[in-house]
This record gives sequence, structure tokens and C-alpha cells, in this order.
Amino acid sequence: MATEKVYTDYFFDEPAFNTHDGGYIPLVRPDVAENKLNVPEILEPDKETDTDMYYTVVAQEGETQFLPGKKTKTWGYNANYLGKSIVFKNGKHIHVTLKNELPELTTFHWHGLNVPGPITDGGCHAPVYPGESSEIEFTCDQPAATLWLHAHPCPSTAEHVWKGLATGVIVKDDVEAKLPLPRNYGVDDIPVILQDRNFHENNQLDYLADYDPDGVQGPTALINGTVNPYFDVTTQQVRLRLLDGANRREWRLHFSDDLEFTQVASDGGILPSPVHFTHLMLTCAERAEIIVDFGKYKPGDEVTLYTDDVAIMTFKIHEFAHHDLKLPEHLVDIPDPEITPDTPVHQVAMSGMDEMVEMNGKKFDMQRIDDRQKLGNVEVWSIINTNDKDSGMLHPYHMHGTQFRVISRNGHAPYPNEMGLKDTVSVNPGEVVKLKVWFTHLGVFMNHCHIIEHEDGGMMAQFEVFDPDQPKQYKLMDMDTLMNAFAKERGVDRKDLNIPGMDM
Ligand code: C2O
Ligand code: CU
Ligand code: CU
Repeated sequence: MATEKVYTDYFFDEPAFNTHDGGYIPLVRPDVAENKLNVPEILEPDKETDTDMYYTVVAQEGETQFLPGKKTKTWGYNANYLGKSIVFKNGKHIHVTLKNELPELTTFHWHGLNVPGPITDGGCHAPVYPGESSEIEFTCDQPAATLWLHAHPCPSTAEHVWKGLATGVIVKDDVEAKLPLPRNYGVDDIPVILQDRNFHENNQLDYLADYDPDGVQGPTALINGTVNPYFDVTTQQVRLRLLDGANRREWRLHFSDDLEFTQVASDGGILPSPVHFTHLMLTCAERAEIIVDFGKYKPGDEVTLYTDDVAIMTFKIHEFAHHDLKLPEHLVDIPDPEITPDTPVHQVAMSGMDEMVEMNGKKFDMQRIDDRQKLGNVEVWSIINTNDKDSGMLHPYHMHGTQFRVISRNGHAPYPNEMGLKDTVSVNPGEVVKLKVWFTHLGVFMNHCHIIEHEDGGMMAQFEVFDPDQPKQYKLMDMDTLMNAFAKERGVDRKDLNIPGMDM
């Protein structure tokens, strides 16, 4: 359709882009051979019935050949680095055995999944100690979406993710299944997990050596754990499930020839209508499913994906059957419940940078509940980034336990690709973003900046979703217990424990 609007800018405030940070580390395309993109295998269920699915997720140590020469010591979920993709079907009752084969405690957080907190959700209150396992179960009750699983043992989340503990989670449902979208996993539907790392001597990672309280970065892009990747295109359209899985890096994506693409889903699922772009920016933890149409290319052509001006991936065009995808103007209905009358507006202020980061003027405390919302209520959360407009940074704000709607940015309409469900929304310096938030499960949940060093550094809080008819007591984890466990597992004295976020 010639009348379709095509967006050609990144929306966010340019002075706040990470390229302006003092500690910014530009990506450098490594001088190594191209590698076939790793497409993570799908995790096979241990058992599946008409109503239930059973999985075992193992956090394990491994070695990964990222670069020529020595393999890199890494961590992963049922894999050496990152993990197998986990597929849940909406409506099924899911049982997961969480197994920790690492030398230290970790947690298994289901980012974007609507499950009870704080144990099933898998934040800092749910450690699984080395050599142990625990069982969770929940009913998958949300629309088709690209979510993810990552480690969340505060304040060591950033280091665990840096070592590789993150993987894609795909929710499927009957609504998405009826849309004319590519969904042949590995062929025309692939996860694209965007990360960056720094490789030290013998190709090893060294988180502490690279530590930066504003977020750890490295000069080498890894896509699904592949350095310098290419993907063989054998269909006219390819669906990319993009995830910013980096600790700090923002991705400003565009293709060679300024090839247009279409976003069909955001964090929490399919958008109400497709949105057409030439440029798309993702901040930490955000997801976007995009459809790229290679119809104008012929076998032998190559299409390059860039972030800023650095090439990060090549699409090699092969023979494909031509068939034009006709996406309907309207894809799905997005729930938009009425705000519960006479409820207060929740205020969240993200302030500071470096070690000074705080939320509502405080550092995170896992024993303190900072806010409460009644189960079933629909309430407004008002998120402000108090950083200076000229020198501040974007803070991607994330809430556990919900998929929310973005109401406004400084009183204006949200960006055109924010009309669906979200669990992470980036806030410009000086901006107020209003959210409409509701919950379907009880629990204690966390809300934080998803620059992972900021959350570890204390730009994080927690809230309780409560029901006056079923009051609950939660046994919350405390810093001492976690620190003592880490010290014991790492074989050091508590006072010699070196976890950068722990002084918060
Ligand atoms: Cu991606 Cu607190 O999580
Ligand atoms: Cu989360
Ligand atoms: Cu932040």
C-alpha cells in the first residue's frame, strides 16, 4: 500500500543515546570469518499431555567457540551459552524443574511472564543453590509473545547474564496462529538476541575487569552468541524476534538500502496494527518482532543489518518462492481496561547515574516493600527519569508480573510501536511516562531500570500485589544470606567478596 506511513527515525531523544556516554565503547566488527548464525534449538518438553507440559531447565557451565583459538568459558541454560528456546502454549499448565549445575547460586527469572511472585517469578527471593533444583508450576495465561528467561540473583544479575544466562521464551496461542505471519522456527522465524562482549586474553570474559556502574559493554557484537553472523534467507519474508539482551547497549537497527520492515509485536505480544519502519531502536530488555521482506532481492544478494554504522549481521539471499504477505491493518485486540476509580497514581522516580542511581530516592532493599496494588485493580503508574536533558541517559523501566499499556510520554501519545502490551519502557531524561498497570497474580515483584548494572546498583524497588480477602505473608530473602552463600560458594571471606553492586 503506497499510503502506509513509514517511520524513519528512532523516536528517543538523541542527546540521551549511549553514544554520548563518557564510557561508551563503540562496536568494532571483528576481523574473523563469517559464521552461520546460531539458531538455538527448541527445548524439548520432558512430557506433554493435553493440558500440561513438563520441562527441565538446567543452568550449566560450558565452553563456547566465539572466536578462533581458545574457547570461552561460559554459562547457559541447557546449552553452553544463552540457551535453548523455551516454548509455552497459552492455556497449558506448565511444570518446570529448575536445576542449578553452576558453582554458585542463581535464580531463574521469567521476564514478561505473568506468574505469581516472588518465587515462581524467579527474582532475587528465589535462589537455587548449586547442585540443587526446585520445582515451579503455573498456568500460561497470556497472548503469544517473545519473552525471555534470565538469571536475577541480586546484586549479581549483571555478571550472570554477562556469562550467558539468558534465553528466549516463546508463548504461542490460537490468535497469533491465525495471522499470516512466518512461523517456521529456524527457517523464517528466528530469535535474534543482541548482545556485546569484551574478550580478554585467551578469549575469556572478565566481568570485573570490564565493570562500569553505568553498564558493562564490549566492542564485539554477539547475535545469539555468534560473532560476525550470517543467516541464509530461503523465504521471501523472515520474522526476527529481536531481543536487546545486552547489559547496557542500545541497538539502533537499520538495513542496507534502508530496507523497510514491519514491526508486528512488542514485549507482550502482537501489536494492534503493523508498524512500518526503516530504523528501530531497542533499549535493554525490550523485544520487537519484525517481518523483513526480501522480495526485491535475487539469489546471491546480501542484505546487511546495522546498529548505528556498524554491520552486525548479513542476510544471504537464496532462491525463494515469491509470495507477498498481506498483513491485515488490524492484527489483534489489545486489552484496555478502565482505570479503577479513586485509586492513587503510583510515582516512580529513576534518578542518578553511576553509583548514584536510585529509585524514589532510595537504593533497593529486598526486605522492604515500596508500593502496593490491589489484585484486579487497574492503576496509573507515573515514571519519571530525573536525569538532565542534555547529559542524562535513557533508563529502560521494567516491571515484573505484568504486561502494561503505555498511556503517554510527557502528555503526548506514546511512540507508534508502543500501542500493544509492554513490560519494559524506556524513559527519556526529563520525561514522564504514564502506564496503565494491572495484575493477574498475587506476589511481591520487582520494578527497576533494566540497564543491568543500574538494577544491581540499586535503581530497583519492589511492590506487593495483594488481595484483602487472601492476605499473605512472604518470606523475603535478605542480603546477608545471599552474600554469605556467595562467599562460601566462591571460597572467599565475606569481606573479600567482589560483587560490584553489593555496596548499594
Ligand atoms: Cu528482566 Cu527484573 O528483569
Ligand atoms: Cu523481569
Ligand atoms: Cu538506568
